[in-house]
Amino acid sequence: MFEHRIDENLGLRPVTILDAEEVYAVMDRNREHLRRWLPFADIASVEDERAAIAVQAQRWAELRSLMAVLVLDGKIIGSAGLPTINRETKSIEIGYWLDEAHTGKGYVTKTVRVLERMAFEELGAERVHIGASVHNARSRAVAERLGYKLEGIIRQAIVINPDGDVTDEALYGLLKSEWIQREEAAV
Ligand SMILES: CC(C)(COP(=O)(O)OP(=O)(O)OC[C@H]1O[C@@H](n2cnc3c(N)ncnc32)[C@H](O)[C@@H]1OP(=O)(O)O)[C@@H](O)C(=O)NCCC(=O)NCCS
Repeated sequence: MFEHRIDENLGLRPVTILDAEEVYAVMDRNREHLRRWLPFADIASVEDERAAIAVQAQRWAELRSLMAVLVLDGKIIGSAGLPTINRETKSIEIGYWLDEAHTGKGYVTKTVRVLERMAFEELGAERVHIGASVHNARSRAVAERLGYKLEGIIRQAIVINPDGDVTDEALYGLLKSEWIQREEAAV
């Protein structure tokens, strides 16, 4: 499958139904880890995963969202993508989750930079944003590490687990002009 190289070992590619079993297996062994912060963490079967992926593939074809898999040395270790692409406002959301065994290595931070480039250079975005529960320190740290501006705390705005619990949401944004500045400074 076509894969966007992130570094020598890590790649990112749009999910397909061929990935259903592997994605399900990663989610299944990470239930405890993912259940804390993801409403869709309790996927019940490979069949359900296949159906969810088919919906995602259709949405990507329509440029409404992108679900991609993160591949390390040929094995899926998580997912990252663009859960909402708003072409009217030119504003695109970035989302992610990782196999717990592969956290702490900067993989998601690197991946977000690739997704930002895609959003700004290929999809015409003027703004990207990341929303996380105010309590989700690891997710908030990704946005903060990349210089996103905390645009607001939206009260009771985010469902954080399959039980439907709702918390306040920390909303982070990065404008295209800020992204250009950050990337120029990084070189
Ligand atoms: C959110 C989540 C993806 C963050 O994972 P993460 O491993 O902290 O994020 P990264 O892959 O960017 O790695 C950053 C860590 O690697 C370290 N690191 C090592 N090399 C690095 C590099 N080259 N660049 C950046 N960070 C690096 C950082 O110091 C940081 O570790 P620290 O927090 O102990 O300081 C993960 O916690 C997760 O899957 N959570 C459950 C699902 C979830 O919450 N999704 C988001 C919903 S809003």
